[in-house]
Amino acid sequence: MIKKYPPISRKLPHFMHGGDYNPDQWLHYPEILEEDIRLMKLANCNTVAMGIFSWVALEPEEGTFHFDWLDDRIDKLYENGIYTILSTPSGARPAWMSQKYPEVLRVASNRVRNLHGERHNHCYSSPVYREKIRIINTRLAERYSNHPGVVAWHISNEYSGECHCDICQENFRKWLKEKYGSLENLNHAWWSSFWSHTITSWSQIESPSPIGERRTNGLNLDWKRFVTDQTVDFCKHEIKPFKEHNPDMPVTTNMMGTYEGLNYWKFKDVLDRVSWDNYPCWHEEDDNTHIAAFISMVHDMNRSFKGGKPFMLMESTPSVTNWSPVSKLKKPGMHLLSSLHAVAHGSDTVQYFQWRKSRGSSEQYHGAVVDHCGHENTRVFRDVAEVGEVLASLDEVVGTSVNAEVAILFDWENKWAINDAHGPRNCGMKYDETVAMHYKSFWKNGIPVDILDMDCDISDYKLLIAPMLYMVRQGVGEKIERFVENGGTFVGTYWSGIVDENGLCFLGGFPGPLRKVLGIWSEELECLYDHESNHIVFNKENGISLNGEFQCKDFCDLIHTEGAEALAVYKEDFYAGRPAVTVNCVGAGKAYYIASRNGEDFIDGFYGKLIKEAGIKRNLETELPDGVTVQRRSDGENDFIFIMNFGTKERHIKLDDKEYSDLLTGEQNVREINLSLYGMRILKRRVTIQDSVLHSHR
Ligand code: GLA
Ligand code: ZN
Repeated sequence: MIKKYPPISRKLPHFMHGGDYNPDQWLHYPEILEEDIRLMKLANCNTVAMGIFSWVALEPEEGTFHFDWLDDRIDKLYENGIYTILSTPSGARPAWMSQKYPEVLRVASNRVRNLHGERHNHCYSSPVYREKIRIINTRLAERYSNHPGVVAWHISNEYSGECHCDICQENFRKWLKEKYGSLENLNHAWWSSFWSHTITSWSQIESPSPIGERRTNGLNLDWKRFVTDQTVDFCKHEIKPFKEHNPDMPVTTNMMGTYEGLNYWKFKDVLDRVSWDNYPCWHEEDDNTHIAAFISMVHDMNRSFKGGKPFMLMESTPSVTNWSPVSKLKKPGMHLLSSLHAVAHGSDTVQYFQWRKSRGSSEQYHGAVVDHCGHENTRVFRDVAEVGEVLASLDEVVGTSVNAEVAILFDWENKWAINDAHGPRNCGMKYDETVAMHYKSFWKNGIPVDILDMDCDISDYKLLIAPMLYMVRQGVGEKIERFVENGGTFVGTYWSGIVDENGLCFLGGFPGPLRKVLGIWSEELECLYDHESNHIVFNKENGISLNGEFQCKDFCDLIHTEGAEALAVYKEDFYAGRPAVTVNCVGAGKAYYIASRNGEDFIDGFYGKLIKEAGIKRNLETELPDGVTVQRRSDGENDFIFIMNFGTKERHIKLDDKEYSDLLTGEQNVREINLSLYGMRILKRRVTIQDSVLHSHR
C-alpha cells in the first residue's frame, strides 16, 4: 500500500504557499515591510523563504552580527500565521570577505581568479569560506532552530559551478588517489597512453581546462564526479550545525531540474526533502503540451529522488522571468494550472521567486507576487491568491504520493559521457529530449512514471525503459537481466551498452552488458545528416501487432539478432531488410530493442501496444484528448486525480465507471467534465482492492 508521508513540518500540516522574501532590501522602507504582511495574508500565503542572499545584512563586518531585523520579520510573520523557511546565506558573500580573503573567490577553468561580484562565486574547498559559513550557520542554528515559526532550512541557493584553484586541484588529486589507489589504475581508466598522456606522478594531474587537458574523457568524467562530491560535501558541512541543534527540522537545497553540472542523485541522502526551481517557458508555442510533458518528467524525477516522498516546488514565477529572450506573460488559467501541475506530481508546496519585485538591480523586472505598484489590484496578485485558496482546500492531499508501474532511466553520468564523447554525432545527441519523448507517451495516456538513475532498485516495476543507455555501470546489465527473467518488460535503444563507468568501450561487441538480455549484436551505427531519413517497416506478423511504416532520423543501428526476433526492418539504403525493432524473450519477461531514432508516431504506437501487453494501468481508463494529461496521488485509500489541459482548446472528457467527486466544487457523482483552455480539475475516488494490490511494490 502507498504510504502517506508526514507534512514537511508538523507545525504546518497544509500545502505551503508563498515565496522568496527579501526584506533586507527594504529595511529603509518600514511601511513596505508592514504592508507585506497584510498583502501576504490577502494572497493566501502561509510560507516565505527568507535570508537567501542576506549575508551582508546579517554580518555587515567580520564578526559583527545583526539579527534584529530577521528576528522581527520571523516573529511578525509568525504572529500572522506565516511560516519561514530560513536560508543559509552562502549563495553570495559580502565584499569585505572577498577583499580580506581573496582565496574565497573562484578560479575559472582558464586558471584566472574571479573578482568579487555576482553570486555562486566561491570556492567550496576554501578553508576560510568553510569557516565563515560554519560560523554564520551556527549562529542561525542557535537562534532559530527551535523557533515555532521556522519550518525548514533552505541550504544555500542553487549550488552550481566549479572552482579550479590550487586547493581544489589538491582535493581533486586526493579524491583520485582514494578512488584509484594507484596511477596504474588511473592511467588504465583514463586510457592515457593515448597521445602520450600517461601520468607518472599525482602532482601532474590538473582539472580539465581550455588551455590544457580537455579531451581525456575519463578525466572529464572524474572531474564532474568530483565537483558533485565536493558540492555535496560542502552542503553537508552547511547542514551540520542545524542537525546538532534540532535534528527534526528538515533541510533542503533548491535544485535546478536537469542542470548538467551536478548529479542530483548524490544529494538524496543528505537532504530531508528535495526541492527544485521550475521556470518553464510557457506559451513559447501555442500548444504547451511538449513543455508540460518535459516538466512533468522533471517533477517525477524530483519525487523519485527520495523514493516517492513529496518534494517541494521551491521557486516558480507568478508571472514572467526576466532572463529568457522574451518575458512572456502567463495567459489566464496558466498560473493555477502550472502551480497545481507540480502538486499533481507530488509537490507539497507552491513557492515563488519572488514575493516583491526589487526596486533596482538585475531582477527588478522578474515577476513577483507584488509588483512595483505595491498593491493587490493586479491580475498576478489575484492569480496567486486563487492558488492559495485552492491549496487551502487540499489538506487531505498533503503527504500523499504516486505509485508507478513504469520507470524510465535518466542518468547523469550517462548524460555526461554522451555529451563528452567525440562522435558519433557531434550535433544533436539529444539525451534529455530523447528521454522526454519516451516519457511523453505515458504522459499522454495518463500513466504514472518514476524517473530513476541506473543504480536504483528496478525490481518492482512492470516496464523499464532506458533510452540511450550509452554508459552501463558495473552490475547494471545483470540487474536488467534479472528484471526481465522475473517477468519485467525492458526497452533499450540505439547507442546503448557502449562504455563502462570510465568511458572505456566494451570489448567483444555492443551493446556490451546488455547484449545477452536484448539478444542482439550491434555491428555498426549509421548516423544520418539532418536532411536525411530512412523508414522502418513492421513485419506482417509481429508479436505486438503494430503495422505500417515509420520515419527514422539521426541514428540507424545496424544489428544482428542473436536469439531476438525482428518485429520491423529498415526499408531503404544498403541495410534495407535488416532488423530495426526486436524482441527477446528471457525467462518470464521480454526485452525490446529500438534500433533507430523514430518519431513520436512510432513511440506512441509502440508503447500503446506495450502498455496493453504488460497490463499497465492508467490513472483514468479512458481515451484522453490531445493536450490533456491525468496524474494521480494516493494515500492508499483515496486517489486524487488531477486532470490538466495544456493543449490548445477546451476539452470534454467522459470519466470511467468509478465514482468520482470534485474536490474543489464538492460536486458528487461526476461522470464527465469540461476542461477550459488551461483548465484543471481535481477529483477524488476510493481506491479499489484491486488497485492497492497491484500498486504495492514500494
Ligand atoms: C533562480 C534563483 C533566484 C532567482 C531566479 C530567477 O531560481 O534561485 O534567486 O534568480 O532564478 O528566475
Ligand atoms: Zn577552489
